[in-house]
Amino acid sequence: MKEFDAIIVGSGAAGLYTALQLPSDWRIALLTKENLKLSSSQWAQGGIAAVIDPDDSFRLHVEDTLRAGAGLCEIEAVNVLVEEAPARIRELIDLGVEFDRYQGRLAVTLEAAHSRRRILHAADATGKELVRALVEDVQSQPHIQVIEEALAIDLAVDSGRCWGVLVEANGRREWYTASVTILATGGAGQAFAHTTNPEVSTGDGIAMAARAGVAIQDMEFVQFHPTALLKPGAPRFLISEAVRGEGAHLLNLAGERFMHRYDPKGELAPRDVVARSIFAEMQIGGDPYVLLDLKPLGEAVIDHRFPNIAQVCRRYDIDIYSEPIPVAPAAHYWMGGIVTDLEGRTSLNGLYAVGESASTGVHGANRLASNSLLECLVFAHRIAADVQRLGKQKIQEVVHFGPTALGKPCDPATVDRIRSELPWLCWQACGIIRDHQGLTAALETVRAWKHLVQQSDWTVGRNALETRNLVFVAELLLNAALFRTESRGAHYRRDYPETDPHWAVHTLLTGESILQSPLGVVKIRPLLG
Ligand code: FAD
Ligand code: SIN
Repeated sequence: MKEFDAIIVGSGAAGLYTALQLPSDWRIALLTKENLKLSSSQWAQGGIAAVIDPDDSFRLHVEDTLRAGAGLCEIEAVNVLVEEAPARIRELIDLGVEFDRYQGRLAVTLEAAHSRRRILHAADATGKELVRALVEDVQSQPHIQVIEEALAIDLAVDSGRCWGVLVEANGRREWYTASVTILATGGAGQAFAHTTNPEVSTGDGIAMAARAGVAIQDMEFVQFHPTALLKPGAPRFLISEAVRGEGAHLLNLAGERFMHRYDPKGELAPRDVVARSIFAEMQIGGDPYVLLDLKPLGEAVIDHRFPNIAQVCRRYDIDIYSEPIPVAPAAHYWMGGIVTDLEGRTSLNGLYAVGESASTGVHGANRLASNSLLECLVFAHRIAADVQRLGKQKIQEVVHFGPTALGKPCDPATVDRIRSELPWLCWQACGIIRDHQGLTAALETVRAWKHLVQQSDWTVGRNALETRNLVFVAELLLNAALFRTESRGAHYRRDYPETDPHWAVHTLLTGESILQSPLGVVKIRPLLG
């Protein structure tokens, strides 16, 4: 057994920033299943939203966030997010994060559904710059032990409290115990056949929490980014929303701008609206993609603002200066996750969650662009303050959480089959457009898989463990999507196309029972406050 004061699982913006904020006299383990830099955070493009311009205000940022969230944001959490943003940005600058500047002042860009230019950025690779600075600082701190290629498997729970995690590293399996455990494992885009997320985004933290009976909410709300590159042989590389913020146009294959037919804000309508409009346009034309034309920006703006996008597109024979980019929607961000309060506490004592794996309530049914990195920073800071207030807890020596011996692995062909079928199942049944029939059939398949993955031989090897997690997450997703008989934000049901005011509630999934029974066990609760 390895003992620490705090264990952080995940090395994206949320995990790295939490590690830096915790007291320096604590022994901290920062675990990550690949290397420190592989995360969605590293891939972030557009930037970080914060009110820093004199023409902007907290009120406007709050209003934009609430409007995008379609009636499901927690107002208190949104106020915290917006009001604490400028202080976190100043800390990043002090840490050495180099945001772009214009005439000596921080440069800000526009993204969809923001009423002001408020997105700080580092060209079109903001995540890379952010992670660079955070990683350098983490690596210089002797009290933070970074453990790469360490896969967290399950939570250590005893006497109604979390005491750490079971970890597989260097071919060994061990319990790591700590006074507090912080899940910063990111999202689960890999549950979908088309995603902008890296391979590590398999929903591990959410699945671990669900298995431990920790409350999870709003899993039906998955954000589909409207514009991911779609070209045979190329990855679903994100084409940042900031290109539309700077003036790029969406065209159908007949060469027509179409967004104003769907929303008066055109290309800058909320992300869910743009994604559905593109999807509709693709269906009308029977086309696999639409086009994103950057020519209106001019060469100088493209060079200065989007050098990374230009370079990646060039690799796939697209010259963005002279031709439009083929794009289509892809799963991008999970609004739901592990329920937390304003201090990042979950429903299980000793367990915190932060970043995309958490559901703080700031995003509601549809996240406002560039509020996610901000959420990582703001809530990491609050968790550190809370942990410090509570002080270290004495770790129970008597607790014994379970065996660590590796058993016989399950059949790899079955793992591979589920791993490759599940993302297509979720994409088709629970993608941009959903209905009762598709969701019910998919849930039945996933429940059969669930039966398999609960056997102990599914806890051997990373592929089986991640596939097991994806099955748990897919069940939570399908169950919640089937339960919510309305359309709201990113959740669109063709059989219930209207927003129903009676559904202005979160879907709360709690306890092991949700994973075994159909709808009846999904509970709803009124919005807080
Ligand atoms: P991540 O950054 O995904 O990190 C999760 C970490 O957990 C990884 O290190 C992973 O390896 C580790 N991990 C997972 N499971 C385990 C396990 N079992 N054991 C050990 N380690 C584990 N948001 C914005 O606000 N602005 C943007 O411009 C923006 N652009 C984006 C562009 C792309 C392409 C993508 C994919 C997302 C973008 N987002 C953006 C969203 C944002 O980047 C993410 O929501 C945010 O970075 C999540 O941070 P995180 O720390 O919670 O998770
Ligand atoms: C983008 O650059 O379009 C992504 C921004 C985000 O997901 O917030």
